Amino acid sequence: MSEIDLRSSVGRWVAEYPQVAEVFETFRIDYGCDGDQTVEEACWKNGLETLRVQSRLERVVAALADDETQDWLHAPVNQLCKHLTHTHHALLKRELPRLAQLIADVVADHRETHPELLELQQTFLAMCDQMLMHTDIQEEVVFPAIVALERQEGARLRIAIDLRRACDAMHQQHQAIGQRLWEVRQTMHDFARPADACPRYRQMLQTLKRIERDTHDHIHKETYILAPRVAALTRRRKACERSSS
Ligand SMILES: [Fe+2]
Repeated sequence: MSEIDLRSSVGRWVAEYPQVAEVFETFRIDYGCDGDQTVEEACWKNGLETLRVQSRLERVVAALADDETQDWLHAPVNQLCKHLTHTHHALLKRELPRLAQLIADVVADHRETHPELLELQQTFLAMCDQMLMHTDIQEEVVFPAIVALERQEGARLRIAIDLRRACDAMHQQHQAIGQRLWEVRQTMHDFARPADACPRYRQMLQTLKRIERDTHDHIHKETYILAPRVAALTRRRKACERSSS
């Protein structure tokens, strides 16, 4: 294993090896909003055997030897912004309206026997608003400013936003979205399929799980890869300005 170990944060693990996200998902270890916790701390908090988690992590890392994956820690930041837009944001824009309709149909059919569906619908709609506001602000304001910073476009930067504050706001949005995802999972009993679930109900649960999984990945990339890289670009730019003045 490289220099990261069980005392490294789960966020760093996923930044180095995105494939271990699946291991953390399996053990219900939050690597998005709670990505600062070490693997040891996460095991302790979740009542998990550290050795069991360690062996799963090592197996995934060993299998990566020949696997070619995008290294977002070192790829140009504008490529990372494009990836976030075209992969994670696109999924939300495509799937959230469909899922809202699906939930409405399931509520209509099953509200008598599953009253928790009404709570799900309420939480889900609030989460949709947060998610779509997040994608719009990033794509229209934050990402263009980050790309300009990477290109060192001084004139454009004078009218750009304060990226440090934008990253802080992004972090707060992530916390709020993470909380809603957790509420959805709690309301739906960890997405356990009820005995009377019809195909539409099952599809709803599958899509909710998929959105949760992808959003954890999305939040992780923005918190533990994008934000630190923006901070580094900002420091580099300030250093350049000081040396040229
Ligand atoms: Fe995003």
